[in-house]
Amino acid sequence: MGELKHALAETAEATAQVLDAWLAPVPGAVGRVVEAMRYGALGGGKRLRPFLVVQSAALFDVPRQQALHAAAALEMVHCYSLIHDDLPAMDDSDLRRGRPTVHREFDDATAVLAGDGLLTEAFAVLADPRTHPDAAVRVELVAALAAASGSAGMVGGQMIDLSPERSGLDLDGITHLQRLKTGALITFACEAGASLGRAPADARAALAAYAGELGLAFQIVDDLLDAAGSAEELGKPTGQDAALGKATFVGQLGLEGARVKAEALIETARTRLDLFGEKADFLRETATFVLQRRS
Ligand code: IPE
Ligand code: IPE
Ligand code: MG
Ligand code: MG
Ligand code: MG
Repeated sequence: MGELKHALAETAEATAQVLDAWLAPVPGAVGRVVEAMRYGALGGGKRLRPFLVVQSAALFDVPRQQALHAAAALEMVHCYSLIHDDLPAMDDSDLRRGRPTVHREFDDATAVLAGDGLLTEAFAVLADPRTHPDAAVRVELVAALAAASGSAGMVGGQMIDLSPERSGLDLDGITHLQRLKTGALITFACEAGASLGRAPADARAALAAYAGELGLAFQIVDDLLDAAGSAEELGKPTGQDAALGKATFVGQLGLEGARVKAEALIETARTRLDLFGEKADFLRETATFVLQRRS
């Protein structure tokens, strides 16, 4: 785990550098929204999705700077999703990554615009030749991130998460919700590495299977931490899911049942990487990290 933590920290720092350069402060009235975008995108976070992009890309010997650009684009979408998720109209959270949420630090309207700004800027990053010299690859990435973020992906999942129908969901329904809400962006992370590396179909399928199980386990652990973790370690409030009546595996299976389910998913996810041999060691360890994390 020591080496993994080091590699995660290194990718987090490199991703922050790309984000910092893309989100350069500007003067005047517009400066406020850029400041809020920077606050939401540069203030910590595990940077798990960037790490998945970088590690998936490394399987196919993609130049690091290309992977970091795709990673930064994905992290912009992720940070936008968190800014909006925390708004009073959604989960109404005051704390994120150990600091006041964007709408608390600025105001609701600025938080809406900061999210909009990050979402839009993400596609500018993907369209930039520094992400890949071949425009066809860049278009593939743009289409994939759009699909993963929109109503067939994260936004759709967030809608189900807030809908009255959620109270009637069974395990299959919750699985569907979580695949959209969280799984889609995590799957994009692994797909992006394969796209940048023009990976063959069998490698893409293996990564997609790994990402599907990892994404589901990731959200189950997020729900376990919400139910039984420490707000101080997490840097965000706990007990929200129960208070807001969210549909979760923890609600259906209990703490122990949800943990058993997450463990089984992680076990399977690790085996999906067999065809990559030692090159996928960090991705295998990442799966274990997702299970053991406390923040
Ligand atoms: C939190 O994601 C939101 C979910 C999809 C569960 P992370 O746990 O990856 O949040 P950061 O980026 O590390 O803050
Ligand atoms: C949010 O899930 C997932 C997103 C798409 C942002 P949660 O609402 O459980 O995420 P946290 O717990 O606030 O980070
Ligand atoms: Mg939410
Ligand atoms: Mg939330
Ligand atoms: Mg949560």
